[in-house]
Amino acid sequence: MIYFDNAATSFPKPNTVYSEIRRCLSKYCGNPGRSDHKLSLDAARKIYSCRENISSLYNFSNPDAITFTYNATYALNLAIKARVKKGDHILISDIEHNAVLRPIHKLAADGFITFDIYKSGSDKEVISSINRLKKVNTSMIIANHYSNITSIVLPIDAIADYAHTHEIKLICDASQSSGVYPYQLDKSGISALCAPAHKGLYGIQGVGFIINCDGVVGDTVIEGGGGNNSSDRTMPAFLPDIYEAGTANTPGIAALDTAVDFIKKITVDEISYRENLLKKRFAEGLASIKNIYILGNPDGNGGTISFCHKNHTPADMGHYLSQNNICVRSGYHCSPLAHKTIGSGEGGTVRASFGYFNTDKEIDRVLSILDNFT
Ligand SMILES: Cc1ncc(COP(=O)(O)O)c(C=O)c1O
Repeated sequence: MIYFDNAATSFPKPNTVYSEIRRCLSKYCGNPGRSDHKLSLDAARKIYSCRENISSLYNFSNPDAITFTYNATYALNLAIKARVKKGDHILISDIEHNAVLRPIHKLAADGFITFDIYKSGSDKEVISSINRLKKVNTSMIIANHYSNITSIVLPIDAIADYAHTHEIKLICDASQSSGVYPYQLDKSGISALCAPAHKGLYGIQGVGFIINCDGVVGDTVIEGGGGNNSSDRTMPAFLPDIYEAGTANTPGIAALDTAVDFIKKITVDEISYRENLLKKRFAEGLASIKNIYILGNPDGNGGTISFCHKNHTPADMGHYLSQNNICVRSGYHCSPLAHKTIGSGEGGTVRASFGYFNTDKEIDRVLSILDNFT
């Protein structure tokens, strides 16, 4: 089996991740922060260790400002809804995932906000598009840093500078860039960064997080118990407790802590370098296969590439690859906006997305199987 679906969820995970989940479940999986017995304290310590590890990976100095969620979708919804106010105007890019488009559309349909869509492109094009659309009540910009369908990258530093200068909040969707982009969050103007554990961070499904760089303690979306201030009817008004109601996914967070150790050991730069090389090899190979064409930009950063066949639908090609034991994803990848931006036709594209564990040999094998697709 060859796995080229790492943008959906990375596979396999580092061996240390599998062993830490087992160790957690068998040795220290009490309910974190609820009691003062050993199992509860050890679980809470592991969760704090993960907050510290994420902080250091993203060069951010306040581990308490990290909120754990269930995935990136939950993180983005929460980051947006905690900061939005009635009458706000919001700018989102033309490569946003449905995890942003749908909550923003719903807020707008409910008459709570208005929004516009700015264009991806060069630093200059992105900033001038944002500047053209900005209104007096623009309170938030949302940026999907690395597209999940092709290697389009938004100039996050330039957007952050713009947002900072104009006192606008910037929410960064780092679902595809986490683990491959060297964030310096203490120095950036990002207000909140959202990511899932299960993609480029090599953790497992069921965990995501927000790094609340601006430390905002806004509105809550979910209320409940957390182990602190239990006699109050309201959520504790401090991070991280305000946004972490209910029992955390301790084995998933333990897995993420270990996965971050793995990334730090290999280094973000090395993982990114390797994925870019794999993608380049694949793109060059695709370019020489008759009837196959690439959509979007294969040259930017990120291990993701989209392609189509002149005579077959993406679904047919995905099925053919699956029959040959190759895992890719075809369709719209929960990103109709981004597909419109790159000009995909009916049925979207086939997406191949690479991870640290893929090899040149796998690339060559998939290319030769695609070459036989008539
Ligand atoms: C850019 C982007 N944002 C958000 C998400 C949502 O992630 P999750 O499925 O962890 O909620 C994805 C998932 O593919 C994504 O690629």
